[in-house]
Amino acid sequence: MNMSSRAISPHTPIGVIGAGAMGAGIAQVAAAAGHAVHLLDARDGAAAQAIAGIQAQFEKMSAKGKMSAEAAQAASQRLHTAVSVSELADTGLVVEAIVENLEVKRDLFRQLETVCNASCIFATNTSSISVTSIAAGLNNPARLVGMHFFNPAPLMALVEIISGLATDASLAGVLFDTAKAWGKTPVFAKSTPGFIVNRVARPFYAEGLRLLQEGAADSATLDAIMRELGGFRMGPFELMDMIGHDVNFAVTQSVWRAFYNDPRFLPSLIQQELVEASYLGKKTKRGFYNYAEGASAPVAHTEAAVACPKSITVYGESHTATALAKRLTTAGVTVQRARTHEGRLAQADGVSIFETDGRTATLRAQATGVSQLVLCDVALNPDSATRMAISVAQQADASALQAATGLFQAAGYAVSCLRDVPGLAVMRTVAMLANEAADAVNQSVCDAQGADTAMRLGVNYPRGPLAWADDIGAPNIHTVLKHLGEFYGEDRYRVSPLIQQSVYAGRTLHV
Ligand code: NAI
Repeated sequence: MNMSSRAISPHTPIGVIGAGAMGAGIAQVAAAAGHAVHLLDARDGAAAQAIAGIQAQFEKMSAKGKMSAEAAQAASQRLHTAVSVSELADTGLVVEAIVENLEVKRDLFRQLETVCNASCIFATNTSSISVTSIAAGLNNPARLVGMHFFNPAPLMALVEIISGLATDASLAGVLFDTAKAWGKTPVFAKSTPGFIVNRVARPFYAEGLRLLQEGAADSATLDAIMRELGGFRMGPFELMDMIGHDVNFAVTQSVWRAFYNDPRFLPSLIQQELVEASYLGKKTKRGFYNYAEGASAPVAHTEAAVACPKSITVYGESHTATALAKRLTTAGVTVQRARTHEGRLAQADGVSIFETDGRTATLRAQATGVSQLVLCDVALNPDSATRMAISVAQQADASALQAATGLFQAAGYAVSCLRDVPGLAVMRTVAMLANEAADAVNQSVCDAQGADTAMRLGVNYPRGPLAWADDIGAPNIHTVLKHLGEFYGEDRYRVSPLIQQSVYAGRTLHV
């Protein structure tokens, strides 16, 4: 271990209260890291049952060679049930993972305060209650820190270390180092609604729901675009189905209310209706998709194969342009290269293809006087993306869709044509994720690195939103957001001050 680490010594026993999904996972992590763990649950037998489950996990890990048999046995022996808080008197840390209720949590910490040593650190795993509020019930609120694990705790690397108003910063530092010593990747956050992950992730769901509501495409098509072009492991609709709409809608509502109904976080009527119908997702076998036995798998809308355009020019040296030209050339297509043509990415049989800048294709055609105009979305990786989303100006004739489809198909993309919404799917979502991450940084909830790390490790995003925005170009993200704001006239799309200032200063966002 790093000598300068402030981590709690593995010789120090710790307490975990709540032996549900999270408490059991946290107890497993702490026992594996060498601590004696005392697990307490209000429900009779729950702690013993959880310990048996953890011990079975350790045995499995040892059978798979992920842990030696001796280590598994030793870790198993470090787990103990506790029946009352008085048994936690000698612990150096107590992590609470009980029911998500402020009064119940406050009561518990008040009891702990009467029995534990003054040096014992109190941690709460709450995902939605203010750490400041929980701590306010204590005589010494400085000793309470948020230690927010992700589900399943043994597998998810991220831990948000959250300071309330009164939290002693050095104790937050101790938990930061302790989480590291437990093999986790901690990030510091301030106690604000949703902390980092549950706040910054909102637009991933919200923009998907808006796109669906505006008829951009159906859920299967939008999910496929977010996976195959955006590089996300799951699209927003399949992910919401997995999380459960009751849970996801409750988190959205709680963040929205906590920010005094900021339209950034406005819940969706579509999701509300799913909850009303008890279409809660996978667990009820019905959500956006049908999970009943025999139900057919959702299919993304993909344009039928069309001929490759006869003449293709690709403009500029951007990553997107270079990758497009290379993909076409590799496929044996003749491509002209030119330096620039008024911002076009490509021209195919007289049809102009631009990357989205947050305006609709129709508005862009009107503004540029180019009626044969098609927009394309942004790829996480233009070299390897397998699907492209496009939209066609209403002024264009049928040959525009055909030429753009033929171009991208020749470059090896499946093509999904969206209704002409501003910002398409990936660009709009990434811009809004970056906007939210930037606001969290701007409001000192976390630093830029913390925001990106949290999103990569807490929700498995393929890239941190701020680093991603830098890659697309902070000025481009700024323009997309400005155009979204102008188009909708909604405060929801207001540009974060941090993005504005970074663009004016010529700085990157992920410093
Ligand atoms: P759960 O319902 O699986 O487990 C909660 C456990 O706490 C139950 O076994 C219950 O008997 C026990 N309990 C309730 N009140 C108690 C009390 N006063 N004293 C002792 N034990 C008590 O809940 P889960 O999912 O493990 O969540 C626990 C906490 O972790 C909540 O604060 C939740 O917001 C938070 N959290 C949950 C995540 C998740 O994905 N489930 C992720 C991160 C945080």
